[in-house]
Amino acid sequence: MNLTDKGLKIIKVADKQEGGKKAFELIKEALENGAEVFGLATGSTPETLYKEIRDSSLDFSDKKAVNLDEYIGLAPDHPQSYHTFMKEHLFDMKPFKETHIPNGLADEETEPNRYDEVIEKNPIDVQILGIGTNAHIGFNEPGTSFESTTQKVALTQDTIEANKRYFDSEKDVPRYAFSMGIKSIMSAKKIILIAYGENKAKAIEDTVNGAVTEAVPSSVLQQHDDVTLILDEAAASKLELN
Ligand code: PGA
Repeated sequence: MNLTDKGLKIIKVADKQEGGKKAFELIKEALENGAEVFGLATGSTPETLYKEIRDSSLDFSDKKAVNLDEYIGLAPDHPQSYHTFMKEHLFDMKPFKETHIPNGLADEETEPNRYDEVIEKNPIDVQILGIGTNAHIGFNEPGTSFESTTQKVALTQDTIEANKRYFDSEKDVPRYAFSMGIKSIMSAKKIILIAYGENKAKAIEDTVNGAVTEAVPSSVLQQHDDVTLILDEAAASKLELN
């Protein structure tokens, strides 16, 4: 493990299989230390972690999950919704006592407040994060205030491009989402950010070595006191590590 001068812990792994195992070890340790609320993420990055959890004997039936985001306009049972993703990758096989995800069909005025109350009632012990090629965390795109709580966000073209692989065509990708805000993410006691692949290398370099700026949402993590980055060689390729 490397500790950067900004205090971020970095674990380098060979590939996403090993990354899933490392992230799993950290989740297991948190569980053993009494973690109750797990902040979870969607996307391809956490898939190997969820496989490790599914294949394990760990029991989450009295734990809670609070997810980062959901597309606006997709019903919970829509095949590309994040509700469906979480059921298929984790919740159907590994039941939690409560699972919370913003409702993509809810009223846009009231849903952010409702979700903030969920987060307030269930302070997040461990937050899993992926990262966008544009350094977004959750769907908090560049320019999002570090003081943001849950809000409706417009996806950037980069994000639409990156996520179109899950849809029949680009025009089917929703343009808006509800996302937990940066302030909410930062309120988690422990944060584990996972990144694989060359296309994440620049965002990781900016996260670790760049200025803390709202133009690079993930740079805010330099201000948190318990962040671990799990990176494969390609994602870590712009960093100087031992
Ligand atoms: P990915 O997405 O895991 O599918 O690369 C990460 C993200 O956009 O946060």
